[in-house]
Amino acid sequence: MRKDINILLAGCGNMGRALVKGWLAEGRDPKRIQVVDPNSEAASAARDLHVKAVASLSETQVPVDVVVLAVKPQQLEAVLPAYRELAAAGVVFLSIAAGKPIEFYERVLGGEPAIVRGMPNVPVAIGQGMTVLSANGAVTADQHALCEALMAAVGDVAWLTDEQLMDAVTAVSGSGPAYVFLLIECLIDAAVSVGLERDLARQLAEKTVAGAGAYALVSEHEPSELRRQVTS
Ligand SMILES: NC(=O)c1ccc[n+]([C@@H]2O[C@H](COP(=O)([O-])OP(=O)(O)OC[C@H]3O[C@@H](n4cnc5c(N)ncnc54)[C@H](OP(=O)(O)O)[C@@H]3O)[C@@H](O)[C@H]2O)c1
Repeated sequence: MRKDINILLAGCGNMGRALVKGWLAEGRDPKRIQVVDPNSEAASAARDLHVKAVASLSETQVPVDVVVLAVKPQQLEAVLPAYRELAAAGVVFLSIAAGKPIEFYERVLGGEPAIVRGMPNVPVAIGQGMTVLSANGAVTADQHALCEALMAAVGDVAWLTDEQLMDAVTAVSGSGPAYVFLLIECLIDAAVSVGLERDLARQLAEKTVAGAGAYALVSEHEPSELRRQVTS
């Protein structure tokens, strides 16, 4: 991993914060990470992690090697024009915004910007995320490797050459944790409804999902076979 990389993170909410924590945990220098977030709470959370946090791009320092976009998708159209100069200078943009195709960034940034579109999921908060990346033709081999390393700091990474399939990724792994959390909620409610104490019900539900997931990950059997082992 190259540690002399200067990272500019736009948006330090839930996902942005998880990324900063992951980068610091693997030994990146906090002095090489800058955060832009006009939200004072988010900026303060970034400063608590000992990284520089400012309210606008004009307050940041150069050089920048990569811009990581972790703002809400609906904020991007307003946020991006200020970044045109960095894009024109060849800086790679790694965006984790849901639902925005690479073509959107190319249009708003102009020229031939280097764009990597990523879809992580919320377990990045504990370094166990799953991120799928897709890049446009302007991204160099070094920039590919850099974006992969930045997301590998918070979990596993896979690449897709067909960007169209990013919507499917968003449905499966990006949104998937919500289904799993709903399953946990349902298991807890069901357990309570048949007489178990809520604390024990929660422990049973969470350990069941975590344990089954961990077992599926390491098992040589297909999930369908693992299911049959239980329902036989
Ligand atoms: N959460 C997930 O499970 C998940 C999974 C995959 C991908 N994503 C993507 O990750 C991105 C971030 O999601 P999140 O849940 O971390 O959102 P979030 O908690 O709302 O964080 C976004 C942050 O960006 C700030 N912001 C607003 N305008 C800005 C600007 N001009 N420059 C810099 N920062 C600005 C927001 O401030 P204000 O709150 O004041 O607007 C907020 O602090 C989204 O695009 C989402 O699609 C999320």
